[in-house]
Parts: sequence; structure tokens; C-alpha cells
Amino acid sequence: MKVLVIGSGGREHALAWKLSKSNLVSEIFVAPGNGGTEIEESIKNIDIDSNDLDGLLDFAEQSSIDLTIVGPEDPLVNGVTDKFQNKGFLCFGPSKDAARLEGSKEFMKDFLLRHDIPTASYKTFTDSKKAISYIKEQGCPIVIKADGLAAGKGVTVASSISQATEAINQSLNSKAFGDAGSKIVIEEYLEGEEASFIVLTDGNVVIPFASSQDHKAKENGDLGPNTGGMGAYSPAPVVTEFVHEKILKEVIYPTVEGLKSEGYDYCGFLYAGVMVDSNQNIKVLEFNCRFGDPETQPIMMRLKTDLAELCLKACKKELSDEDLDWDDRKSLGVVMASGGYPANYEKGNIIEGIPDEAEDIKVFHAGTTYQEGNIKTNGGRVLCVTTLGESVLLAQKKAYDAISNISWKECFYRNDIGYRAIEREEN
Ligand code: AMP
Ligand code: GLY
Repeated sequence: MKVLVIGSGGREHALAWKLSKSNLVSEIFVAPGNGGTEIEESIKNIDIDSNDLDGLLDFAEQSSIDLTIVGPEDPLVNGVTDKFQNKGFLCFGPSKDAARLEGSKEFMKDFLLRHDIPTASYKTFTDSKKAISYIKEQGCPIVIKADGLAAGKGVTVASSISQATEAINQSLNSKAFGDAGSKIVIEEYLEGEEASFIVLTDGNVVIPFASSQDHKAKENGDLGPNTGGMGAYSPAPVVTEFVHEKILKEVIYPTVEGLKSEGYDYCGFLYAGVMVDSNQNIKVLEFNCRFGDPETQPIMMRLKTDLAELCLKACKKELSDEDLDWDDRKSLGVVMASGGYPANYEKGNIIEGIPDEAEDIKVFHAGTTYQEGNIKTNGGRVLCVTTLGESVLLAQKKAYDAISNISWKECFYRNDIGYRAIEREEN
């Protein structure tokens, strides 16, 4: 079968790489892809932007694509699945209406409330004066979230009233996130440890992937501004068997049931970002209607089951309960980024020293291009050096050994990816 993957990040490189190993897949295209997908022997890049929905559909028609898998949230929120399905194409990803679980924080929070799914208490505002008087009433810390998609920048965890006030004014009055921030959700601050819990569903059957944890903050110790994610590992030890069952029972099953009962067509990956507190209580922080980036990279490194077959079955509503097959080893991915990210950074620097793929190491590309025999930087997050090891510590060591040979002008990365899991291993 011919498969099209939409997107250009590390997630899409890892998905396409995994799909290319399936016996069911004869050809695999990535639109637009990156330097990493360009140099994969079995993958072909197609120069169509992931938000050019008409262009993507034309390509699918011309090339008789059998299955399309959507990586990023924007095309999903803009209705790529509806568009493909209307023309009779199998497209793995939720419908436009269902993708509002990620596309609107207000929709997501109201949905959780309707279905009695645990989450932080909240209130929605469009008026900054009312919002500011609410935070003064509630006190700090408090969390301010732009309602719509803001490329991971729409959330402020405010430790003071002045910081909260500034976040409110930025979003509602200065329009820092455009329309996406013309409404805000203000929510209770939650304590605990975060985990990413990702499942695949056809709207009826739910198949959980291995747990993972990402590091959103830019600097060591989870400090500094939030980024798209500076590294991730799988499994996440905070998701014990007990917690795993609890997330399924309290969050995932009621969400899938709730979507069905409200008439939404949800076929795709469903990602719950959850906070686990010291008493192992779970609360939903966010939903994403797609796989995580960089969580995909370590998870795909461990997955042994045929991903193409799973996605195909899901699109045909033929999924049945099954346990996925995993490499028992731990996997860890360290993101290497361009100096200045998540703010301004340079592009076009030549990257040297990327190791060849081996059984226990794979460098997934994100913001890169392949030009005249060179791999060059082309984005903020550039590479995700992903490894397998008998422990998180050993996987981490392997990743940083490889990184010590990779370089470009003004590259940076965190030195402590996986530290919480390693602390747990040591205890
Ligand atoms: P979100 O996009 O909603 O997941 O928020 C981005 C990040 O902000 C999360 O990964 C958390 O680290 C943090 N965050 C979001 N909501 C809360 C909350 N209610 N309490 C504490 N931290 C939060
Ligand atoms: N790593 C977080 C995300 O993909 O949203």
C-alpha cells in the first residue's frame, strides 16, 4: 500500500521510519518532510506544505494513496481528515470537530466537565478586567491558557499576580497569539509529575502505547521558557501499572465514550497530558489529537508491532483489543536545537557528525534540509538523538556520547534528559 505522512518534524520522521518497516507498505511519501526523511532510502519527500489541504488531496488523488497519516495538529484542526474522507480516502486522524479537543482549551475543559473526567478547575474569559479580578480572587500560582493553537507558547504558569496580569493582557489585549488568544482559560495550578499517555483508537477500541515523559522546559532542571519539548523517554516510571489502569479508566475510556455519545468521529492518536500527584491521583492537563513530539521518537524506537497495520485497521473500524509488542529496553531521545530557540534562531548551518543508524541508536531529524550533500539546520528543534538501553541511565549515556560528535554553529541541548527516571532507577 502507498502511505502519505503529513508533516515535517521529528515526529513525522519517526512515524515514517517506523511505517517503512511494514511489509504492508510499498511506498511512503512525506509532505513536506525534512532532511532526515529525504535521505531515508525507503521514503520520498513531496514538496507540499502540511497546511495546503487542497494540494495534499490533489497529490493523494494523483498518486493513488491508500492511507494518509497526519502528524501535526494544524491540518487536523483545519479539517484535513474530513476533506480526505469526503473524497473516499482513508485518513488516520480525528475529524475537524473532534480535533477541537486540542484546538480549543474551552471545548476540551467543557467536555471534561460534561463527562466527569478529572481536571483542574477553570473559568473562561474574553474580558481582561474580569479575568484580572478573577486571578486576584483566586491567588497564585495560577495558569493562564490561550484558548486556541499557539504553537506551544499559549500557556503561562504564573507565580505572581503581576505575571498573571501580564499574560492576560498579552493574550486578550495585545493579541500576542492572534485570534487563538482572544479567549483564555484560567485554571487552578496542579502539583505533581507529568506524563504523556498516548493511545490509538478507532472511536470504539482503545490500544494504549507505552507511557512516556517529555521535558518541555528549555533549560536543565526543567527551568526556563517552555519549548515544543527538549527530550523524552519511554516508559515513564511515574506511570506504574496502577496509574496506567487508572488513566485508562478515569480519562481515556470516558473520553472515547463521551466523544462517541456526542456523535464525534474520533479515529487517530489521542494524547492525554496528565498530572499525577503524590497520592497517584490523575488530572488531565491537556489533550492532543495527534502523537507527541518528541515522545514519538523514543516510543517508535521501542514499538515492535506493525504501525501501518494498526492505522489501517483503525481507519476501517476493524481494530480489536490487542497488546502491542514492545522492546523491553528503555528509550530516550535528546533534542538538539538551534541557538536562540524557542525565540529567534539562525537557519542554514551545516550539521556534522550524525552517526549512522544502528539497532540501538537513531537520529531523527526535525528542522533540517538536505542540500548539495549537506544536512543543514532549518528550524528550532533540529535533531532528536534517540537510543535504546537496558536502563534509562545507559540509554542516556549512549545518547550523550553520540551528541558529543555532532555539531553545528550555535547548537544547544539539555544535559539532563531523563533525570527523574534515573533518580527513580537509583532508588
Ligand atoms: P498544556 O499545553 O495545557 O499542557 O500546558 C503546557 C504546560 O504547562 C504543561 O505541560 C504543564 O507543564 C504546564 N501546565 C499546564 N496546566 C497546568 C496546571 N493546571 N497546573 C500546573 N502546570 C500546568
Ligand atoms: N511533547 C508535547 C507535545 O507534543 O505536545
